[in-house]
Amino acid sequence: MFGVDIGGTGIKGAPVDLDRGDLAEERYKVPTPHPATPESVVEGVHEVVSKFGWTGPLGVTFPGVVVDGVTRTAANVDPGWIGLDARRLISDRLGLPVVLLNDADAAGVAEMTFGAGRGRGGTTIVLTLGTGIGSAIFVDGRLVPNTELGHLELHGHDAEKRASGKAREDEDLSWEHWARRLKKYLAHVEMLFSPDLFVIGGGISRKSQKFLPLIEGISAEIVPAELQNNAGIVGAAMAAAKL
Ligand code: BGC
Repeated sequence: MFGVDIGGTGIKGAPVDLDRGDLAEERYKVPTPHPATPESVVEGVHEVVSKFGWTGPLGVTFPGVVVDGVTRTAANVDPGWIGLDARRLISDRLGLPVVLLNDADAAGVAEMTFGAGRGRGGTTIVLTLGTGIGSAIFVDGRLVPNTELGHLELHGHDAEKRASGKAREDEDLSWEHWARRLKKYLAHVEMLFSPDLFVIGGGISRKSQKFLPLIEGISAEIVPAELQNNAGIVGAAMAAAKL
């Protein structure tokens, strides 16, 4: 199977070994075009997929709400995506069957199957802290799609503008400072959902030892994601396998 992850900074893809839940070959990445219009991003997806000569079903993630292949929001990409039948656009351009899903949902499904959420019952919330904050909620392993917890309001701000990995970089925050913001965000999410487990993903999960030990006062267990930056690709390929 093959998965492509459309992110705020890169479009990356690889064939995936679904038995192991890992990439079957090294992934290939092109920078996300700016502005990230549908046409230019789809060209990027085409380039990634062509690189491997893939001709089967394709799973693609998108950093916004996706319902029945239609992209409904575009917080970190061009507004031209809003209301677009993006699944059809990609499928027509590449000539392949395509499934399109939210990036955090894809990463979450991969973590629940192969990573940090494996075998976990109860309520698990997977959060990806990258360009934005993505969320995936699982109840006894079953996904509630398109939850968008990155856009909760925190002290009058869009939470992802304060607590994403990008916010830490853009504002040049110390780990301590950023961890305080993340803690407030997690406390807010916990107040609303009382999860048993938080799985923290996104590129920053590689550095979890720098900030997870600083986060206290949250009742839920908090663990770093295990598939890290490949979770979206793996989750996309898992969705493609169901086509
Ligand atoms: C989007 C989400 C997405 C997250 C991570 C947010 O801005 O609204 O749909 O999952 O960023 O990319």
